[in-house]
Amino acid sequence: MISPVTKFCRVLGFFCLVFVSSITWANTSVDWNWVKAQLQQNTLQRDLPRGKHLYQTYCQSCHFPDSNGVNLGSFRAPVGLKNIAQDNPLSFVETLLYGDTEAQMPRFAQLQLQEAIDILYYLRSL
Ligand code: HEC
Repeated sequence: MISPVTKFCRVLGFFCLVFVSSITWANTSVDWNWVKAQLQQNTLQRDLPRGKHLYQTYCQSCHFPDSNGVNLGSFRAPVGLKNIAQDNPLSFVETLLYGDTEAQMPRFAQLQLQEAIDILYYLRSL
């Protein structure tokens, strides 16, 4: 006889699994070659006010309002996010969506690619 608590935990576990795998699926389905080409041509749609709002909501607490060269205690020299957004946009978008465990940068799997791009262009505009 399975107790109701065990049943509940199993159902919960199942839904967690579905949730996690759907996030993984959503991110692995990004067509990076397409993104790279679009970034090079600078033709992607962007919404700067939305990028600003997203930056303030998700990033500002660690990276500070101007995003500029804050040393967050990692082994690397501090680099402003604006510079990375300018010089290496693909790495910027990837770091955002997948995180950087070496440097304790969390992954933002809940953000859509378009939202990452809005943040990227917002930082470039600073
Ligand atoms: C919990 C704190 C935290 C939050 C929130 C956070 N980051 Fe980070 N981020 C870090 C740390 C720590 C690093 C590593 C810093 C370093 O390498 O000097 C990092 C590194 C990065 C890098 C790579 C920097 C490099 O040197 O290559 C990018 C790009 C970045 N963050 C973008 C973002 C964006 C965009 C957001 C908002 C969606 C965000 N981060 C939110 C902590 C955070």
